[in-house]
Amino acid sequence: MPPLPVDLLRWYDRHRRTLPWRALPGQAADPYHVWLSEIMLQQTTVAAVIPYFHRFLDRFPTVADLARARQDDVMAAWAGLGYYARARNLHACAQAVDRAGGFPRDMAGLLALPGVGPYTAAAIAAIAFGHPVVPVDGNVERVTTRLFALTDPLPAARKAVALRAATLGDAAEARARPSDFAQALFDLGAGICTPKSPACALCPWQGACAGARLGIAASLPAKAPKAARPVRHGAHFHLADAAGNVLLRRRPERGLLGGMLELPGTAWRAEAWTMTEAFSHVPLAPRRGLSPWRSMGRVTHVFTHFTLHVDVYAARVDRFPNSIAEQGGLVCGEHELDGLALPSLMRKCLQLAGRADPGET
Ligand code: ADE
Repeated sequence: MPPLPVDLLRWYDRHRRTLPWRALPGQAADPYHVWLSEIMLQQTTVAAVIPYFHRFLDRFPTVADLARARQDDVMAAWAGLGYYARARNLHACAQAVDRAGGFPRDMAGLLALPGVGPYTAAAIAAIAFGHPVVPVDGNVERVTTRLFALTDPLPAARKAVALRAATLGDAAEARARPSDFAQALFDLGAGICTPKSPACALCPWQGACAGARLGIAASLPAKAPKAARPVRHGAHFHLADAAGNVLLRRRPERGLLGGMLELPGTAWRAEAWTMTEAFSHVPLAPRRGLSPWRSMGRVTHVFTHFTLHVDVYAARVDRFPNSIAEQGGLVCGEHELDGLALPSLMRKCLQLAGRADPGET
């Protein structure tokens, strides 16, 4: 028996999650909420996204508010979600939508928006506009490979899996409720057809699942072995003045963490930095009123494509020279830091540097 959408939809009607971006039964979803949540959910889990989503809507209640916001405010609201190119695309997308007077309602128009790829376009088209398309994210891939016992490893098999997933939405019941059908697949993947120990006994599609029948559901989707993540090294310097102000600078617009603020430091490279090498990058040359630099320890941060080890050094200066701004330095009050567009990596460095006062020794 093939998996029948009606069985999944009946289950969804009883067990659907209440999520802040999700419309109540029978109501239309707000495209702004759907789009924003989908972009955020590409970064992290539902639980982690919820507070960010609320904060974004408090600050930018409509897409027009987001479009007209300062880029820095958008980056600050995004900080901690990672992958900052996405925040810049988010802002650019809001501006394109605002100029056009609203979200495009078809796949082609959605796909033309900055930062909107095939998955996000399908999710918005299905959830906000009721188009009969199946958005294929990791949840839907997992459900599909299990239902049809597709054992070819990802990522090579991704296209074939997506084609199979699309067939799930072909039945009349799915085409009648595309928004619910897409979200039902997400909920099934999140709550029942989970990565490690799927709750097959509770699954509305158990009888139709080839993976469950063969006893291989939990092992799917098969994944090709990943190449080991390379390691990079850097050093960053925490320099504070007597009033507790901290020296920051802005990263170049292009590249990793583009446009975000950071503690001054070295480049990130494959080879470890000796202390002598690292110290040729201190943000302030030795002078009266500057304490010796103290080693505060190491922060490790895992990016998508590499693991970074950062040695953190801290020092204190009586007061920052006026020339510091000419060299691109930004002096930030201790209490301003929370509201700034600081990446998680830099928050970790600040925390490590803040554990002891380097001026004390
Ligand atoms: N995962 C991706 N999109 C989602 C959504 N709209 N609701 C719940 N989980 C999701």
